[in-house]
Parts: sequence; structure tokens; C-alpha cells
Amino acid sequence: MEETPYFTLYLLYLSAFLLAYIVLDVYLKAEIYTFAKKVHGPKAYPIIGSNYIFHTKERNYLRTLFNTFDQYKLPVSLWNGNQYEYWTSNVEEIEDILNSNKTLDKGNGYSKLALYLGDSLLVVSDKSWESHRKLLSKCFEPDVLEKFISVFYDRSCDLADSIAHVDQNPTQLILRCTANMFFGTAGLGNIIDLLFIQKVLKASQHSTEKMHNPFSANFYYYHFNPEGRIVKHNLTFLKDYANRIVAERKSKLIKLKKLSNANETDYKPQALLDIIIDTGLTIEASTNEMILFAGETSCKSAPAFLSSCVLLSIHKDIQDQVYKEIISVVGEHDKITHESVKQLELTERVILESLRICPIMMSLTRYTKERVRIGHRVIPSGCHIKIFVYDVHHQEKYWPNPRKFDPDRFLPENAAKRNQYSYLAFSCGPRNCLGEKYALMLMKTMLATVVRRYTITSDYLSADEINLNPDLLYTNDKICNFIPRKSVVNEE
Ligand code: HEM
Repeated sequence: MEETPYFTLYLLYLSAFLLAYIVLDVYLKAEIYTFAKKVHGPKAYPIIGSNYIFHTKERNYLRTLFNTFDQYKLPVSLWNGNQYEYWTSNVEEIEDILNSNKTLDKGNGYSKLALYLGDSLLVVSDKSWESHRKLLSKCFEPDVLEKFISVFYDRSCDLADSIAHVDQNPTQLILRCTANMFFGTAGLGNIIDLLFIQKVLKASQHSTEKMHNPFSANFYYYHFNPEGRIVKHNLTFLKDYANRIVAERKSKLIKLKKLSNANETDYKPQALLDIIIDTGLTIEASTNEMILFAGETSCKSAPAFLSSCVLLSIHKDIQDQVYKEIISVVGEHDKITHESVKQLELTERVILESLRICPIMMSLTRYTKERVRIGHRVIPSGCHIKIFVYDVHHQEKYWPNPRKFDPDRFLPENAAKRNQYSYLAFSCGPRNCLGEKYALMLMKTMLATVVRRYTITSDYLSADEINLNPDLLYTNDKICNFIPRKSVVNEE
């Protein structure tokens, strides 16, 4: 069949456009190409870069990264489409990256996160980040945190009441507990159903999955691709739900303030959401922060708690010590208070060590807005620097016998001997996790409440079995068993 001249013309234009695009890209990124050539990595092709490595049968993003770094040894160059990524786990370089004001911006992975987190603190660019962070720090001041302990304890008791009765995977219960902890401290009571948090979880899962697909998150994907349309629908639900809550809360807050002005008292917001709104952020910005905080609290603390449970189930001796600590600090029946939670030092070390072995964020990203020196290298502007946290947490130099679960690595005298940038569970430097203290208090309360009542067992034989699966929330297997402790059973 004879081709129409229009079609031939169309093909010609398209080829000319693609060629011009590639030539311009190579011209503009000449310095990056020169740099990338000096760092080894898989071959890259125009448009797709080296993303083809992720298109394996099992589509396991992490496993592909592990295999690639096994083959090439870090540092490694990867091309995510036409965006250059410099992957490193060198602690001296990391210290420079996380402290430089030239690398405060987050990189390409966050553009997918921004779809549901908007301009919230996690993703906001360096220009407005500092003032934004200062405002939101008010949420985690010591006098505010202190008041949250009763919510954390009550919700942990709810979890402990029900956890032994589940035949299946307890993750939904745990997720409900951490979600309710967020809602409780936000001043919203308990959530009616899990839908909101499940949508947050789905959105965050989606952004991780799509991180290395240069063809996702475009107009076509969200409007015509069936999967993309579901994602869009989820995002709309999420935003509308949170927006409604924030708007209602804001009008309540205005009324409360008016009332206190009339009574000549100074109204000081106590709940997380009220503090966010009281910073003066718009409803839309407060909504983004609410979604961020809800996601961080439920979707990160829940898998972190689960990995601590699994590791304690493997290390029965350490579990016994944790139990003894809880009994000696809190007793068998007393409430966990702000004072007692501070004394649960071994419990805290267990959580920190679990997050070393199974970091929730496997990698951190920074974008170079201008040329920057890190360690012995000068990285051109326009690069995405990827810090491979998992590898940092398993370097023999900082963590002798790295596969061993040893909470004593976090005793103050041992921690003092290490470069602090060798532990990145909550990141380091000015853009570290703002909610670290809140998260630790929450997880310690959960773990202490559960270990006080149950012996945790599982079929896992070693930590190696969970290394490649930090997202324990997404598995359907029964992860651990919670067997009531004798002393509690006898009294019932
Ligand atoms: C186990 C629990 C948690 C872990 C492991 C964790 C980890 C992290 C990490 C690694 C970062 C740095 C991300 C990056 O550089 O790209 C971060 C940032 C952040 N986290 Fe967390 N987080 C947890 C819980 C929380 C909670 C409960 C909140 C708040 C309620 C929170 C709020 C934030 C915020 C606001 C940032 C952005 C800080 C900034 O860019 O200035 N996190 N978190």
C-alpha cells in the first residue's frame, strides 16, 4: 500500500524533532556526560537511559538495584530517562551532600511524591524550605510531644487487645493503630475506616514503583491509561478528604480563638493539625502537610514496628531483656508515661538497630542546582545524587559484622565512636526527619505495650530473610505470632 505524503512528512518531522532534542540534550549536559563517563554503570540509551534494567520479569526495583550495585560496585552512574543519577554510599561524600546548601533540593524521585504531597515540607524546594521547616517545627516541641503519650499508649493498648486474635497477617491492625495515633494526636479522634490511610499507602507505593518509569505520570497516563486513571481517582479522593477535614478544623479554630480573645486568654493549639493550621499556611498547604504527616506516621512507623517484632522473634534473648526492661521501668500494669518512655533505653536501641537492618527509606535523593564539591569529586549542576542507605547501614567499617542484630551498637559510648552519617534511618543534616522524636516515642510505646503482654515468635530464622522486603506491609504472609505471656494469662 502506498504511504500518504502526510504520513511521510509526519515521520520526517518526528525524526527531526527527536534528533534535535537529543543533540540539544547532549549539548546542554556536556559536563554531566563527561562526569558520568568516569563513574561506571550499565549502558545508557537515548530517551530511556538505563531504565531497561528495571524491566525484569519479577519487577523488583530493589533487587535490581542490589544486583546492579553487586555487579558495578558503588559509586554507580544510572540514567533515569535523560536524568543523570550518581549513586553513592561513601560516608564522607554523604556528609558533604547532606550539609551543603547547594544540595538542599530533593531530586527526581520526589516529583512523583509531589503529586499527592504537593509542596509539603518533604518535597518543597530549597527557596521556601527553611521558613516552612521553622513553622512546622512547632509541632514537635517538647511540651507538645509530651502530651501525645496518652494517645500513643491508649492506641497501643487497643492494638495489644486485638493482636493475638488475628489468624492472618496483623499488618492491617498495626496500620490502623499507627493511623489512629496520627488522628488522635492531630485532634481528630479515631478514624472511622481505614480508607484514607490505605489511599495514602497506595499513593506512596505508586510513586515508588513509578520512580523509574520515564513514561509514567504524564497527561496520557492519568487520562487514558486504566491504571493511571485509578491513581488519579485515588489522589482526588485523598485531597478532597483531607481538604474537608482541614477546612472544618480551621473554622473551629477561628471560633475558639475568638472565644479566648473575648475571655482575654491566650489560646494555644495543642493538637498537630491545629498547630499546622495556626502557622498561617493556606488550607491547601495545610492539607498537604496533613497528608504528609499522616503518611509518615502510619506508613513508616507500621513497617518499622513490624521489623522490630520480627527481629525480636528471631533473637529471643534480646526480647527477654526488652521484657525485663519494661517490667522494671513501668511494671506489669502501669500506664506508660512520658517519663517512663524516656527510660526504655534498650527498647529504643532495638528500634534503631531494626531500622539499620531494614531501613524504611532505602535511598535519599538530592539535586545539584549548581556545581558542588563532595569528597574528592566535583559534581556538575543538574545531577540527582542518590544515597543508597541500605549499603551505608551494612558497611563493615562502621558496623562490624553488619548482618548481626546487635542493639548495643547504639549505646552512647559505641555511637560516639562512629561517623554519625553512617546511620541514615532518619537522614542527617538540616533536612533530616522532622518527626524523628515523635516517631520514636510512638514506636517505643507500641513495642513496650505489646512485648509486655506477648511473646513474639515467627518462622524467620535470620534477618537476611527480611532484608529485601522492608515493605512488610505489602506481604500477605503471616509475619509473627503474638503469644500471651503467662503472668498476664494467669491473672485473666
Ligand atoms: C519510622 C518512622 C520514620 C522514618 C523512618 C522517617 C524517615 C525520614 C527520612 C529518612 C527523611 C528524610 C527524607 C529525605 O531526605 O528525602 C524524613 C523526612 C521527614 N520526615 Fe520522617 N520518618 C519517620 C516518621 C516521621 C513522622 C511520624 C513524621 C511526622 C509526623 C515525619 C516527618 C518528616 C518530615 C516533615 C520530613 C521532611 C523534613 C525536611 O525535608 O525538612 N517523619 N523522614
